[in-house]
Amino acid sequence: MPLPSTGPSDPDRLSVLEALHSTPARRYLSARPIADDVLWSILDAAVRGPSGGNRQAWGWVVVTDPTVKGRIAAWYREGWQRAYGVRRAELQNAPARDVGLGAAAYRATEHLAEHLHEAPVWVIPVLRDAAGSTDPRLGASIYGAVQQLQLAARAYGIGSTLTSFHVSHEEAVRELLGLPESALTMALIPLGYPARGRWAQPKRQPLEQVVHWDRWDAHRPRD
Ligand SMILES: Cc1cc2nc3c(=O)[nH]c(=O)nc-3n(C[C@H](O)[C@H](O)[C@H](O)COP(=O)(O)O)c2cc1C
Repeated sequence: MPLPSTGPSDPDRLSVLEALHSTPARRYLSARPIADDVLWSILDAAVRGPSGGNRQAWGWVVVTDPTVKGRIAAWYREGWQRAYGVRRAELQNAPARDVGLGAAAYRATEHLAEHLHEAPVWVIPVLRDAAGSTDPRLGASIYGAVQQLQLAARAYGIGSTLTSFHVSHEEAVRELLGLPESALTMALIPLGYPARGRWAQPKRQPLEQVVHWDRWDAHRPRD
């Protein structure tokens, strides 16, 4: 698959395969507003995604209130600081690589942590009856839909990142958003028109290395 160019932002011109190959995490976002009809269209694409037994035990909290964003963004920054901020010296010079955050991705992640509240819209996908679940596959009933949301956004030229640093303050977030006790936030997705960067093909480990034929560790070259 050839590397995509900057990619069209007209949803009618972007093929599904091109979108799949050109939707990296976009962490430099402008504050330019997103029109309501575009937002509805993105959410409408998200809820076409799969869930076990088609239960759709989800809710999609759209956050635009600056006060709410400001409070959650502060909690997010704390989570970021604890997990990655403390490793700044080590990671800010890390070489680009297929696995893990290289220096550029580290800087972008740091930028997002500092500017999260500026993204015009956040979507927080929520699963009901998920808090306290011990099912390791629980997320399968929402992350497909989350990916659809990100791909639909990309079709409109809107960047996004699946983020999670807010989860160290899950209780506080739940209270602030008025979520039911049994609900769990599954991500926080800032949406915005990109201010920097490209719709580049995400770097991944070599395909032949991660594909196993009939049994584990049986690899084949790609013809
Ligand atoms: C479960 C999960 C949690 C993530 N949490 C964060 C986060 O809190 N902040 C962030 O900037 N990116 C977060 N990411 C985005 C990943 O860093 C990103 O998907 C990965 O580096 C690949 O990026 P690429 O598609 O641009 O190559 C998360 C992704 C997943 C799947």
